[in-house]
Amino acid sequence: MKQYKRYLITTALPYANGPVHIGHLAGVYIPADIYTRYLRAKGVDVVWVCGSDEHGVPITIKARKENTTPQAIVDKYHAIIKKSFEDFGISFDIYSRTTSKVHYQTASDFFLKLYKKGVFVEKTTQQYYDEEVGQFLADRYITGTCPHCGNENAYGDQCEKCGTSLNATDLINPKSTISGSKPVLRDTKHWFLPLDKFQPDLEHWILDEHKEWKSNVYGQCKSWLDQGLQPRAVSRDLNWGIPVPLENAEGKVLYVWFDAPIGYISATKEFTPDWEKYWKDSDTRLIHFIGKDNIVFHCIIFPAMLKADGSYILPDNVPANEFLNLEGDKISTSRNWAVWLHEYLEEFPGKQDVLRYVLTANMPETKDNDFTWKDFQTRNNSELVAILGNFVNRAMVLTHKYFEGKVPELREMTDFDKEVLNEIPRIKSAVEQNLETFKFREALKEAMNLARLGNKYLADTEPWKVYKENPDRVSTILNIAMQITANLGVIADPFLPFTAEKIRQMLNFDGKEWSLGGKSDLLSANHVLGKVSLLFDKIEDDAIDVQLQKLQSTKAANEASVSKAVPQKPSINYDQFSEMDIRVGTILEAERVPKTQKLLKLKVDTGIDVRTLVSGIAEYFSPEDAIGKQVAILVNLEPRKIRGIESHGMILMAENSDGHLQFVVPADKVDNGSTIK
Ligand code: MF3
Ligand code: ZN
Repeated sequence: MKQYKRYLITTALPYANGPVHIGHLAGVYIPADIYTRYLRAKGVDVVWVCGSDEHGVPITIKARKENTTPQAIVDKYHAIIKKSFEDFGISFDIYSRTTSKVHYQTASDFFLKLYKKGVFVEKTTQQYYDEEVGQFLADRYITGTCPHCGNENAYGDQCEKCGTSLNATDLINPKSTISGSKPVLRDTKHWFLPLDKFQPDLEHWILDEHKEWKSNVYGQCKSWLDQGLQPRAVSRDLNWGIPVPLENAEGKVLYVWFDAPIGYISATKEFTPDWEKYWKDSDTRLIHFIGKDNIVFHCIIFPAMLKADGSYILPDNVPANEFLNLEGDKISTSRNWAVWLHEYLEEFPGKQDVLRYVLTANMPETKDNDFTWKDFQTRNNSELVAILGNFVNRAMVLTHKYFEGKVPELREMTDFDKEVLNEIPRIKSAVEQNLETFKFREALKEAMNLARLGNKYLADTEPWKVYKENPDRVSTILNIAMQITANLGVIADPFLPFTAEKIRQMLNFDGKEWSLGGKSDLLSANHVLGKVSLLFDKIEDDAIDVQLQKLQSTKAANEASVSKAVPQKPSINYDQFSEMDIRVGTILEAERVPKTQKLLKLKVDTGIDVRTLVSGIAEYFSPEDAIGKQVAILVNLEPRKIRGIESHGMILMAENSDGHLQFVVPADKVDNGSTIK
């Protein structure tokens, strides 16, 4: 492989329309953090940039819903997201945002340069326009009937019921969600990036020159290329975004997917005046960490933009991950089906590395993967506590006990000792090889093998039994155990930075250069150790139950809101309505229908007669509650027999989403027999 002088790492800019969750961490930020920490430990010149993605339609929709401005929304979430990343030790060199001044300038200049080179194709197309509010409508701002399944609430870009992706013009009876009015088609001019012209170059670059990309990434690129690339609009009619820097372009902004990746460049500029070295010198290795939904933008569209400019390097690799699910269901911000990072830290304070560990062990590298709280608990208790924590603790405690907290001397070694010591560099290079090829799960497993090795070594040599007869032997054993511990302080660092730091503190050892890993003389004899502290503690069932309970109530809330939204009956005309004779009456008598849970037998005064009715309200009203109530009754419903009782009519009830019933009553008392119409 080519030898690079420096690295530039980017991670997808998260949308600032919600906090970040475990899916973000597992898919993008943890792998990038492990990789970058590893590079830094190797002494590589590396810059890692990221920031919030603050444009786009969803942010404007959220602002409208919350009756505030897009700027207020992004200010709020940018701060929350930034803090979560810091709390989890995600070690960006800079975390910027796409509403920054530098970014506006950089993105406008980028557009202008391409414009002046004549790269864009200008096209006039027709787009829905809301005449009442006087603005063009993004697809998400239009609802209507899905031509495929008849869902009346399909969006202009997609029907969420049948999953079909749509064009706004496909919708039957389109409606603006801003004013409710019927939108009209109007001409609008936009600038298109002619991806078709870049097809041959991209094909060669990806399909021939980057066969080493992960198969999920390579495969997605190939299928896009096989379908043939089409020109893509890089502008939108919207009032939130970076204005198209041309005359006669009022009301037009850069498309969010055009400006956001340029955010990587802007952030680098903000970070260092030397930014061009990282973006324009072929000795820089550029790597984009992203999730699978971002592949086309990072492998095809952004590279086409960079090529169109002509002065930039292209990514050497794009190690995209698949998705992480939560307890078997797709993580969803809108359905609140997620483990939010800021909430996790409130509930598991100080346990950043536990989550980092579990998310790395389950990283969705080659296929979608599931996060479950049970697995979280098991991995904590039987891996972090029982293997890593246990080894370090035993090694430290024994050394304090037998050698007064000083590293004992390495005396005579057995063949077994030598074998164990030889394992350390082997493990180190296994970790390294896996990291170099973006196999983070495997790399973590190897790093844990170091702790396993230590545990097994202590179990096999049993220093606590040997000490009395042979303290010299124990001196050697604990020297070796300490060397393994020090190696953990180096090798575990990219994965578990908080824990590795604690280990180094316990050892009173501050080396974390990667080159130290694999060595068996990191701590010299008589080196004074620090105090022992616990690395991990057990997570009990009740902490896990709280989390499961929380998800359970989210699910219940979601189901309730779905059932509320669903039933809409076909329309009827006035005559059909007026066929119903609905009147106000008073309940005179009430008794339970024997052997039933739900039924009350009622005698009611309808103003025309006194009649018997059976009503399914017993779960919510006792006979005493019901007597004396004025209610609405459908009096001309055909009589029917219920449990042997002839029922004449029906009492009207209001039923909420979880089935709770209330009487429908006139606001003030009226005469029995009054009609409702
Ligand atoms: N905000 C996008 C998402 O969350 C990612 C943008 S990545 C960038 O899917 F390259 F455009 F910055
Ligand atoms: Zn549909």
